[in-house]
Amino acid sequence: MAQLYLFPLLFTLINQFTSGIYASATFTLVNKCQYTVWPGILSNAGIAPLSTTGFALQVGESRTIQVPSSWGGRFWGRTRCTGDSSSGKFSCVTGDCGSGKLECAGGNAALPATLAEFTLDGAGGLDFYDVSLVDGYNLPMLVVPQGGSGGNCTTTGCVVDLNGACPSDLKVTSSDGEKVACKSACAAFGQAQYCCSGAYNTPDTCKPSSYSQVFKNACPRAYSYAYDDKTSTFTCAGADYIITFCPPPNTSQKSTQTPAGGDGDDDNNTPLINGTMIYQGAEWEESGAAASASRSQAIAAAVAIAAAMWRLCHHF
Ligand SMILES: *[C@@H]1O[C@H](CO)[C@@H](O)[C@H](O)[C@H]1NC(C)=O
Ligand SMILES: *[C@@H]1O[C@H](CO)[C@@H](O)[C@H](O)[C@H]1NC(C)=O
Ligand SMILES: *[C@@H]1O[C@H](CO)[C@@H](O)[C@H](O)[C@H]1NC(C)=O
Repeated sequence: MAQLYLFPLLFTLINQFTSGIYASATFTLVNKCQYTVWPGILSNAGIAPLSTTGFALQVGESRTIQVPSSWGGRFWGRTRCTGDSSSGKFSCVTGDCGSGKLECAGGNAALPATLAEFTLDGAGGLDFYDVSLVDGYNLPMLVVPQGGSGGNCTTTGCVVDLNGACPSDLKVTSSDGEKVACKSACAAFGQAQYCCSGAYNTPDTCKPSSYSQVFKNACPRAYSYAYDDKTSTFTCAGADYIITFCPPPNTSQKSTQTPAGGDGDDDNNTPLINGTMIYQGAEWEESGAAASASRSQAIAAAVAIAAAMWRLCHHF
């Protein structure tokens, strides 16, 4: 008689096991930068680490990771890493997680770093995700949901080079003089009004600053300060995600099916790229492999860069 009870139980167990697998998501990390990126991954407090917490991603390489349902955590890119991973001397100029190894093993990204943040299967069964510049910026990142539905299931990210456009008092320069990152105003000045702390710890009291506005203008869908939720949090049900470091501007535009700065059939009003800031796209295209940019485009870009720099100088 016992078997009769065992069968349904087994069935239920198998069912739960397989539905658990289907409820999980895959994350594919892609490196379109012209340099190696070492992704770092940190699970939120109380959530188990993924099968990997850090690795090298060569130019053009991609890697897919299985993520269990209800996972939450962040991805970022470490740059200019050097040293011996086994002897514990591995370190990175930006995004270092302090582990001394390839694997971050619970270490968080050193500021400044662009972050892609996820909470899977949250309120209403939706995944919540964003790309954040609240802790500063070190490289362009794009998050593209695949096969999801519901909510505002769309592409987000910061696809422009903010290291070049970084205000001088936020700029981070490497020992060889390269602009490698751009600090948040909170990290640069430590003031409550920029950090949304103390008397400024509510959405009503903490407002965008001229510094956070530089980030927001360049990357309208990314978090530019702590209470930037409304225009920067996206939701999806049942999606997989592609996270691209240094996405080519043409791909990112295609994936939103809108021209730069436009709206189109996207259910979201905020453009991924600010169409009035074309100089960054142009500058970007030039630095990319594409040699297609014509001479006139290059001249237009140079003029636009000069104008933008003039504007920035008079701003700060
Ligand atoms: C685009 O940038 C300009 C400043 O260059 C700003 O005035 C405008 O609000 C930005 N647009 C968006 C959608 O962020
Ligand atoms: C996306 O949807 C969520 C949940 O409804 C909302 O809080 C958020 O403001 C929306 N994001 C954008 C960019 O419209
Ligand atoms: C985008 O540009 C890159 C570099 O020129 C090219 O390799 C790629 O095929 C382009 N992608 C699309 C979708 O046009």
